[in-house]
Amino acid sequence: MLRPELKNGNKLKIYTYPDPVLRKKAEPVKVIDERIRRLAQDMLYTMYEAPGIGLAANQVGEASRIIVFDLRPKENGRHPCALINPEIIDAEGEVTTEEACLSVIDYCADVKRKARVRVKGLDLEGKEVSLDAEGLLAVCLQHEIDHLDGILFIDHLSALKRALYKKRLKKKLKKSS
Ligand code: NI
Repeated sequence: MLRPELKNGNKLKIYTYPDPVLRKKAEPVKVIDERIRRLAQDMLYTMYEAPGIGLAANQVGEASRIIVFDLRPKENGRHPCALINPEIIDAEGEVTTEEACLSVIDYCADVKRKARVRVKGLDLEGKEVSLDAEGLLAVCLQHEIDHLDGILFIDHLSALKRALYKKRLKKKLKKSS
């Protein structure tokens, strides 16, 4: 079951760029135990609170290969999804979408990605699952799996665009300190 039952969780701290934890390559989860299930629930809770449509474990400071996501608008009811050790096994086409990230504050930009992906992984019971995704879900899955490899959406931009964002962020951090 890709969709865990939604439980109340703890709101975790979301680390933001340029925190080095976001650059760490996450390790595969070896045993899916209560701790991992708890973490996934807390990640879902944190994602809904933010609010966001996806979250990877590195973003909350855990270098484990876990992602959660829910693309359904809130008014249509929650549709929580969690995937352990997700892997893109097939991808095709090309699509450009404006992306944002809970770890990259106050910024969004067009990113080019694969239009369709097949992703496999494990659910919270350790059962193998696979899903074929297109549209925003395909983009979200690529964005979250990137996180697990220490990659942020701004890494897909031109060096110039990235430099502009860094400059803006520096200014902003200076102002708030
Ligand atoms: Ni993100």
